[in-house]
Amino acid sequence: MKNDLENSNKEPATEESSDHSEYPPTNTSKERTLSDIIEARLSRRTTVKGMAAFAAVSAFGASLFGRAAPAKAAKSTLTFKEIPHSFPPPKGLQVSPGYETQILMRWGDPVTGDAPKFDPNNQSAADQDKQWGFNNDFMAFMPLPLGSQNSEHGLLCVSFEYTGPHLMFPGYKTRKGAHAKVTKEQSDIEMAAHGGGIIEVKHTGGKWQFVEGSRYNRRISLLSTPMDISGPAAGHDRLKTSADPTGTRVIGMMNNCAGGQTPWGTVLYAEENFQDYFRGNRKNTPEEARNYKRYGVPKKKYAFGKYHDRLNVDKEPNEPNRFGWVVEVDPYDPNSIPVKRTALGRARHECASTVLNPDGTLTVYSGDDNRFDYLYKFVTDGRYTPNNRAANRNLLDAGTLYVAKFFEGGIMRWLPLVYGSGPLTEKNDFHSQADVVIETRRAADLVGATPMDRPEDVGTNPVNGRTYVMLTNNTKRKQGDLNIANPRANNKHGQIIELIPPAVKGKPKMGFTDTWPALIVADHAALEYRWNFFLMGGDPGKAESGAKYHPDTSKTTWMSSPDNVAFDKKGRVWIVTDGQIKHGFADSIYAVDPDGPARGLLRRLFNSPKGAEICGPTFTPDNRTLFVNIQHPGEEKKSTFDKPSTRWPDFKEGMPPRPSLVVITKKDGGVIGT
Ligand code: FEO
Ligand code: CA
Ligand code: CA
Ligand code: CA
Repeated sequence: MKNDLENSNKEPATEESSDHSEYPPTNTSKERTLSDIIEARLSRRTTVKGMAAFAAVSAFGASLFGRAAPAKAAKSTLTFKEIPHSFPPPKGLQVSPGYETQILMRWGDPVTGDAPKFDPNNQSAADQDKQWGFNNDFMAFMPLPLGSQNSEHGLLCVSFEYTGPHLMFPGYKTRKGAHAKVTKEQSDIEMAAHGGGIIEVKHTGGKWQFVEGSRYNRRISLLSTPMDISGPAAGHDRLKTSADPTGTRVIGMMNNCAGGQTPWGTVLYAEENFQDYFRGNRKNTPEEARNYKRYGVPKKKYAFGKYHDRLNVDKEPNEPNRFGWVVEVDPYDPNSIPVKRTALGRARHECASTVLNPDGTLTVYSGDDNRFDYLYKFVTDGRYTPNNRAANRNLLDAGTLYVAKFFEGGIMRWLPLVYGSGPLTEKNDFHSQADVVIETRRAADLVGATPMDRPEDVGTNPVNGRTYVMLTNNTKRKQGDLNIANPRANNKHGQIIELIPPAVKGKPKMGFTDTWPALIVADHAALEYRWNFFLMGGDPGKAESGAKYHPDTSKTTWMSSPDNVAFDKKGRVWIVTDGQIKHGFADSIYAVDPDGPARGLLRRLFNSPKGAEICGPTFTPDNRTLFVNIQHPGEEKKSTFDKPSTRWPDFKEGMPPRPSLVVITKKDGGVIGT
């Protein structure tokens, strides 16, 4: 989601206020300069000549990961011709020579049943509930048949994050004005345009095709899709409403941003900025008022609560506690009921990305995308059982939720958020694990987690076993708020942190696919990791920016505001951005080597259409196709449905800009990036 839609509802905490003084003290950043801090972390690279070597000597053991990096000659393993900064890109979007793009789905395209063709001047909520939603974001490619490595046939599982009524309907001059004036039907169209979409796709004759009429094609929406609630908060009084006295059933999911997928072939949709969807005046108990405040509820941004009592906290004070979760969906069973897994905590979950541990437990990483909020992980109690989906069905209901704390010396720790432990007791109004997960943020405040620069996507590299955390930016961070992992005040460009879990001896259990991170002998269930900066965004030509890349990075390749991340089979890191327009150029897709002599040497593959950001990068297993979602094209100042700044992708008079799913392939059908 665009940066101007963020919120900061919490006073920045500092490391000094932490309860955890027994562990190596964090930083004394107030006395240190920015460059001192960054250098202290990055100097490890020069000391040991590259992160691979660093990882080998300090965390993994050379026999497992010891590819010693030569000291000089940076030759990227990526062979595509890179394209420069561009704004606006010619022809709507721009991709490296030798590559081509195809638009597969656009907002309003029919998905299920008898959905009509999109007509921007004749929309209805009933139609939108069967059509491609607005602002496609997360994407997962799930091969068909289930459990195969098929790269020619599969399911694309997509989320639809938010709506912009001024770009969806005629007659509105501003976003705010449109939110204030939308009719019930328009408001319901917006609700139906939120949620998820699952489509069957096939690669035939050199093109990808949507399989019309497939039994798998499905829409999941905020307007109409019933979901179950499971885990520690299910059935708790704080989740009961007049429509659901059991506290176990809810209609829809909200603001689904990035996500994840499990080894057993389900998809995780993360609910992010749920606060935006509630209206009312916060008349509630003092405890719930504190809970609302910590999450920014009710933000009153959308009109939905005018027309649906459940989204008005005066009428349904517990409804906000039923959002902000990670939702598991089985795309292979079109009749399956999505399940909100409350054990993973309640936050503005950016993502829910998984990695299978050598002992068969599953770790799920998630960032809480808010300034000064936290990075989380969840580790299941139970173990994944290959080839038995039923045995894994409720694996995400029991486990331990942790929050991250970063220390000097390249150490980070995972602090458990468990009822009864540390400060999470009656003394602080926690009466069960349900209270802990409902008020995850307050629990994390109390244990002294490290306040981060807006954690976006988190992903684990299937080759080197390390986890990459996108910290997009934080312009509210002041000198007094600096900490070891977030060392820049007025951080406009963000940074990428690399987490290095310890190595484990022994043969890992096989995952769902042979590219699954299960092949890594790294223990993502461990309580202590090492960490390092991978990249610091910004213009390296400006000394004050604090940017850090490989020194051979070209002057027109620097990056700002990393958002989503993906990995190819060679372990190269693929990064998409959200917010480069503020710095004068379009959002981009970058690729970069994480190890070897070209570690940190960015290359740009693709520039987004006008006003858009890029989301959901997803490869087919053979890496010959890269799917991306283009979100909010034409979302710029003064741009409206009637007078949009671009009509991408249709470029037809009367047709508004349409968020769309784009396919990127090499013209010769080869592997992307090489
Ligand atoms: Fe939806 Fe955190 O971006
Ligand atoms: Ca985004
Ligand atoms: Ca973002
Ligand atoms: Ca995001």
